[in-house]
Amino acid sequence: MLLRVDYNIAAKNDGGLVDDWRIRASLPTIKRLLEAGARIGILTHRGRPQGRVIPELSTAPTAKALAELLGQAVEFVPDCVGRVAEQAMAKLAPGKVCLFENTRFHLGEQMNQQMFLQKLQVLGDVFVNDAFATAHRAHASTSGLGATMPVSVIGELMVRELEWLRRATEEPERPFLLVIGGADVAPRLDLIGKILTRVDTLMLGGTVGLTFLAGRDVSLGQSQIEHSCVEAARDLLAEAGVVGCRLHLPRDVVVARKQAVATPIGISDVHQVKDDEVASDLGPETLATWSRLLEEAKTVLWIGSLGAYETPGYRAGTLKLAEILTTKNGFSLLAGNGLVATLADGGLRERLPAVSTGVGALLAALQGHSLPSLSVLGLRQGKAWDGAERRRG
Ligand code: 3PG
Repeated sequence: MLLRVDYNIAAKNDGGLVDDWRIRASLPTIKRLLEAGARIGILTHRGRPQGRVIPELSTAPTAKALAELLGQAVEFVPDCVGRVAEQAMAKLAPGKVCLFENTRFHLGEQMNQQMFLQKLQVLGDVFVNDAFATAHRAHASTSGLGATMPVSVIGELMVRELEWLRRATEEPERPFLLVIGGADVAPRLDLIGKILTRVDTLMLGGTVGLTFLAGRDVSLGQSQIEHSCVEAARDLLAEAGVVGCRLHLPRDVVVARKQAVATPIGISDVHQVKDDEVASDLGPETLATWSRLLEEAKTVLWIGSLGAYETPGYRAGTLKLAEILTTKNGFSLLAGNGLVATLADGGLRERLPAVSTGVGALLAALQGHSLPSLSVLGLRQGKAWDGAERRRG
């Protein structure tokens, strides 16, 4: 059996993994398959090596981390296709696991190339796709195998993520609050444009929020703004007014001097940020208003960090607001690399019921794009998938 997971996890300076969260998220599927006596060959990518073998992007450290979490040996196989991979699968006993080298060390992976796909296919008869974070990529080890293996099913993490997506998008309980932050502005503007008519309230922080403030002609000194998106932000501001979506931008911010960004120097009204200052986090007045809005909301969809999360001191605003979601009623779905890192750092990630393992896939789905890993199975995201499968032959 082949299991596709997403262990795309960054490395620390010493080569170890920054985090084992994605590995832990895959454990329910792996344990369930092992209980059924499966022989599991695990496929994953790591980074974007573009077909080159880059030792720093080896999946070997993920095999080690998985073995520790599972409490059993996980054989690392130094290639994901060819003789070494075939032999590893042939000698794998029931209830045992091996993990293959980075699929993206082969260019055929991203090209979903027929020859490469055939080499993967021979490694198993059943394919389980549990890689939600990669569901938006039409690669050989994702949608390629899903479309061509005799039996293709999705795993427990995938089911869980799709259920969260469904709850956030299909008739969400109201008030429905969308919180957008982070620095990757363009795709988030696209999402806001698509979802604006469906949300009651929109709160914008991070570089996204600052870019919208610039769209209101607010001068923000040396703050990080996505200048190429200011016009689009201006259009969305006008549109929000037309469709009756309550839009909230930061009113006050924590500021620092450009030359010493890590050291906050005070709180400033957004209209009074000085020429040499940068806005780094939400201020107390904004936090008070946004806390109330979060308390009132019945559905919260939150993507991206609301402060300059790379500096630990500027995670406070995001954490104060996220803390509210750990106790309130209703449903909250959170995603985004910076946001997830912030939540982990503040000890909140595990206390929140729905933190997505894949922001790219989630954004793609929310923007209305089909997810190839699902569409090849005849599934569309946004409905319950449990038990869904496709059989051939
Ligand atoms: C992720 O980490 O979001 C996924 O693994 C997708 O990675 P990619 O953007 O390199 O395809």
